[in-house]
Amino acid sequence: MTAVAYPNIALIKYWGKRDEDQVIPWADSLSLTLDVFPTTTTLHVGQTGDVDRVTVDGVPASGTVSRRVVGFLELVRKRAGRTESAVVSTHNDGPMGAGLASSASAFAALALAAAEAYGLELDATDLSRLARRGSGSAARSVFGGFVLWHAGEDDPGSFAEQIGVEFDPAMVITLIDTAPKALSSRTAMRSTVETSPLYRAWIESSRADLTDMRTALERGDLDMVGEIAERNALGMHATMLAARPAVRYLAAPTLNVLDNVTALRDEGTSAYATMDAGPNVKVLCSPGDADRVAARMREAVPGCTTVVARRGTGAALLTEEPG
Ligand code: DP6
Repeated sequence: MTAVAYPNIALIKYWGKRDEDQVIPWADSLSLTLDVFPTTTTLHVGQTGDVDRVTVDGVPASGTVSRRVVGFLELVRKRAGRTESAVVSTHNDGPMGAGLASSASAFAALALAAAEAYGLELDATDLSRLARRGSGSAARSVFGGFVLWHAGEDDPGSFAEQIGVEFDPAMVITLIDTAPKALSSRTAMRSTVETSPLYRAWIESSRADLTDMRTALERGDLDMVGEIAERNALGMHATMLAARPAVRYLAAPTLNVLDNVTALRDEGTSAYATMDAGPNVKVLCSPGDADRVAARMREAVPGCTTVVARRGTGAALLTEEPG
């Protein structure tokens, strides 16, 4: 069984869980699924008694990755009442573990492939609940376009759904550093919840941002969407910076990109930045400005590369196994 899923970038961020085991966040979040950097995952059911085998690009997965995948497969098998092992091979078109939502596309693809292979009959909402257990943001990659993840307070209440807006901006991904991050978002968000004195205020402001964002998306107002997304991302990073010890994903070139985004706005181009658990910046702009915005970033930030993304589709099964 082969499934494909795309990463999503949150415009209203998920940062912090109220329940670590069930992956229930403290606040709703809202994202855009992209049309670049897909993850393709093939899963074959093996024999009872064998160990699960997990490869990434043909190479056996590292201990951490393998443990997370096996833990997820155990959850699927328990639900399906099955005991056979799995052989999982996965390929990610983008850099992994660099704050580019590779865990979102990876667990959305794995959830779909595993649910099908082990015979779980899930609708898209149930699939979103299942993907959430692998990585919170994966709940959103089950769907395409703009997606709202209802935080909920328990497993049934915590799922994502697509919101029906036509808005179709561009996102210029500015790659500064694609090496895997030193601190996983899982560990960093736990430490932020436990130690940042700003955490409660961040949750309150993020909830208010979400209400405003829904209005902005319904209006298809790029400036309003961009302003809210940028302030939400900066608020999340401010909250992390206040953790003890500080969690800092933003690097010197990140600030250079941010300066250039501000300069573009001063020159009259609608461009807005958002950053996740890594130094790379995603710049929201209109499709007609995307190539110019990308060229500006490459010119201003030595060594960076850019990829222009648009809205992408939800997780899907491939009907033919790749040759
Ligand atoms: C900064 O979904 O990777 O990208 O649930 O622990 O696997 P886990 O975390 P993950 O966190 C993503 C955090 C973020 C913001 C977001 O995507 O909403």
